[in-house]
Amino acid sequence: MPSSDSPPTQPLPPTPRPRVRHRRFLVLLTAPSLLAVAVAILFATTTPLPRLLHLLLRPKSLLARPPEPPPAADTSGHAGRPPCVLWMAPFASGGGYCSEAWSYVASLEGNVAAGVGTNYTLSIAHHGDLESPEFWHGLPEQSKDLAHRLATARCELSRAVVVCHSEPGAWYPPMYQSLPCPPTGYDEPAFVIGRTMFETDRVSPEHVRRCNQMDAVWVPTDFHVSTFVKSGVDPSKVVKVVQAVDVAFFDPAKNVALPLPIGFSVMDPDDSTIGTEDSSSKAKGFVFLSVFKWEQRKGWDVLLRAFLQEFSGADDVALYLLTNAYHSDTDFRGKIHRFVKSSSIEEPVGGWAEVRVVDEHVPQSDLPRLYKAADAFVLPSRGEGWGRPVVEAMAMELPVIVTNWSGPTEYLTEENGYPLDVDRLTEVTEGPFRGHLCAEPSVDHLRALMRHVFVDREEARSKGRKAREDMVERFSPEVVAMIVAHQIQKVVASTQYSVDG
Ligand SMILES: *[C@@H]1O[C@H](CO)[C@@H](O)[C@H](O)[C@H]1NC(C)=O
Ligand SMILES: *[C@@H]1O[C@H](CO)[C@@H](O)[C@H](O)[C@H]1NC(C)=O
Repeated sequence: MPSSDSPPTQPLPPTPRPRVRHRRFLVLLTAPSLLAVAVAILFATTTPLPRLLHLLLRPKSLLARPPEPPPAADTSGHAGRPPCVLWMAPFASGGGYCSEAWSYVASLEGNVAAGVGTNYTLSIAHHGDLESPEFWHGLPEQSKDLAHRLATARCELSRAVVVCHSEPGAWYPPMYQSLPCPPTGYDEPAFVIGRTMFETDRVSPEHVRRCNQMDAVWVPTDFHVSTFVKSGVDPSKVVKVVQAVDVAFFDPAKNVALPLPIGFSVMDPDDSTIGTEDSSSKAKGFVFLSVFKWEQRKGWDVLLRAFLQEFSGADDVALYLLTNAYHSDTDFRGKIHRFVKSSSIEEPVGGWAEVRVVDEHVPQSDLPRLYKAADAFVLPSRGEGWGRPVVEAMAMELPVIVTNWSGPTEYLTEENGYPLDVDRLTEVTEGPFRGHLCAEPSVDHLRALMRHVFVDREEARSKGRKAREDMVERFSPEVVAMIVAHQIQKVVASTQYSVDG
């Protein structure tokens, strides 16, 4: 694994195709368009959004043409107008691409402010996943101000490096209702970068086709470089750009543990208060924490099977699941009970070990305190793009037990955590990615690792400390900002040449 403090070694970006130049501007606050109407309908059903969010989402202006420039402007070339970077991502969705896009944009903006790479201006637009007003409300004022400034910045499309930061189905032409990226197709911008990732062993033919329409495709790990190229994405376009973790925010030294218990106990027969808070039971001596959306891919079944078989009520231990529904109802107690029954897991002699579900929204500001309250993090996932909760836990000095496959192989080692063995690869049996392969993590190895971490706490803590060191050294926002700025600068330089030279 190359260390990210060495200079990036990717080849120069391919020379952009010759393009027909239009004088079309991106001005984010002007006349309406058909697209705006479509998107307005899309958003009409949601609750009223904060004014700033409206601004960020207002796509009508994107396709607006400016008044015709005076003829003289045509002969003066582009002198005086710097190229721009238009970053299009689900900035208001609160999902994985959203937080990643924010970290990149904030670091590029920091570089521009610091005078590094001032050869371009930066602007943003919302694209991809739907917005979440809840997420937007929770953003710090500073981020809202930045969004406001960048969403209103002008960007001339013919001189723009456009970054389409989302799943490829949202790229031009979008396969569902979304502001397209690039807004007018691939010919107009100077250079188009697709930033994406995937969780299985391959990329679907449609996504491969979409990737190959880009001038470059940025993926976060060597795993993705390999799966994208193997699936047919042009190797000269694929560039590894890792993801950052906010090590200043996720800093154990700056946070006090959230007092436990929280959430509700699932296996406790005395706890008849279905789905409500019970703060009666006392905090356990050792806490495993897992954070995930409730979907099969996350391996919650593997986790419950391992934990409930390995531990009993006689062990001073609890498993916390911070989860939320994903295309499903929120009856997590019912789901877990049905799972335990149908998979014939026997109740241990000492009774069930404690499992607690936290399904209420934990504000982002409290998240570090929840990690701090845990002794170990565990995620026997079947496939991850990157594994954001994993790196957050590692930044918080937690020892992590995580499936050694897909995204996490970029940063998980035997020195900084506990890589979980994969029994075999299995086919995805439903949905659009049927036939793709995913990892099936080993239940036996998971049991052994959980027991090991529970027993050898000193070793676990020391791996946790190493985990934070690695996160700071390789994935801190400053380090990743340099990588991103370097890549953007290279692209801007190459388009400069082709536009002006
Ligand atoms: C900025 O652009 C100018 C002209 O295009 C070039 O001479 C200069 O080296 C660039 N600066 C950086 C930091 O790339
Ligand atoms: C984890 O996976 C990587 C990549 O497949 C492999 O090189 C490494 O040896 C594995 N680590 C362990 C501890 O199995």
